Amino acid sequence: MASKFVVFGGNGFLGKRICQEAVTAGYQVVSVSRSGKAPHSTELNDKQWMQEVQWTAADIFKPDSYHMLLKDAANVVHTLGILLENENYKKTLSKTPTNDSRSHLLFLGTGPNPLKKESPYFTYEMMNKQSAIMLANTFKQEIIKKSKKEQAKVNGRSFTYISADRGFPMIPSGYINSKREAELEIEKMQEYFRPIIMRPGFMFDEHRNAIGPRSFIHGALELLYCGNKFLLQNKLQFMNELIRPTVSTQQVSHSILTKIENPDFKGVVSLEEILKA
Ligand SMILES: NC(=O)c1ccc[n+]([C@@H]2O[C@H](COP(=O)([O-])OP(=O)(O)OC[C@H]3O[C@@H](n4cnc5c(N)ncnc54)[C@H](OP(=O)(O)O)[C@@H]3O)[C@@H](O)[C@H]2O)c1
Repeated sequence: MASKFVVFGGNGFLGKRICQEAVTAGYQVVSVSRSGKAPHSTELNDKQWMQEVQWTAADIFKPDSYHMLLKDAANVVHTLGILLENENYKKTLSKTPTNDSRSHLLFLGTGPNPLKKESPYFTYEMMNKQSAIMLANTFKQEIIKKSKKEQAKVNGRSFTYISADRGFPMIPSGYINSKREAELEIEKMQEYFRPIIMRPGFMFDEHRNAIGPRSFIHGALELLYCGNKFLLQNKLQFMNELIRPTVSTQQVSHSILTKIENPDFKGVVSLEEILKA
């Protein structure tokens, strides 16, 4: 029987590509999100693999609502988090075509911010750090319930955390600090499962052509990256630190599956390594 692969945030921007890659690799895939709904897609190819996923509703902050899903799971992925402590930015990012350049600025945190925080969980501490620690701990508790022989099969289990390459200019340091703090806590649980820490940079989807804020930012970052590479020839170290390559959700997902399927791998996967996948 195919082993179970549970993706928290599996209907998200990256999560859906992880589910797709895992279905293609032959896993029994379960997506967990609050809505429990499959992501919207008009692509025929997406419709096919999406039928293979069990789309489940649960809240990551309520382990009682999902611990049973982890009982027989071999691989668990945490792919939810926030870049800004302002729920408005996610809505802005997922917008399709707009000529309103203010919405791009809003994403960067320089525009007006008319909305108040809607959820007490919408903080770096809760979304980027505590949600991951809570999930990893719940997975650990389910492992502890197993027989000693089963518990010892550490290499056959993994917990993947989607961290980040580094902070971005104009993004509060709480973003990257919360990611690094979560990494440390998850790595402490390696006697129960293999921790896999992914550090992608700004992501885009290879199959999404819509002209929206995300494509606008992707284009701008690519332009800067090419300028630094071809005009400055990567000679200025501080520019190299600042201007990082973008990466597709498909590359990140492929890299995750490669690391999960290597029973000897655990630890951090850098942006450079993801780009080789
Ligand atoms: N996007 C980028 O360019 C980028 C760059 C570097 C790192 N990252 C990291 O990559 C990860 C994924 O990012 P993303 O852009 O794919 O995120 P996303 O599109 O916002 O997806 C996250 C998913 O998590 C679900 N979710 C939110 N709160 C939940 C809760 N309390 N319980 C269960 N599910 C919940 C949401 O579905 P429901 O609303 O249905 O619950 C959503 O579909 C994050 O950790 C992010 O920090 C992203």
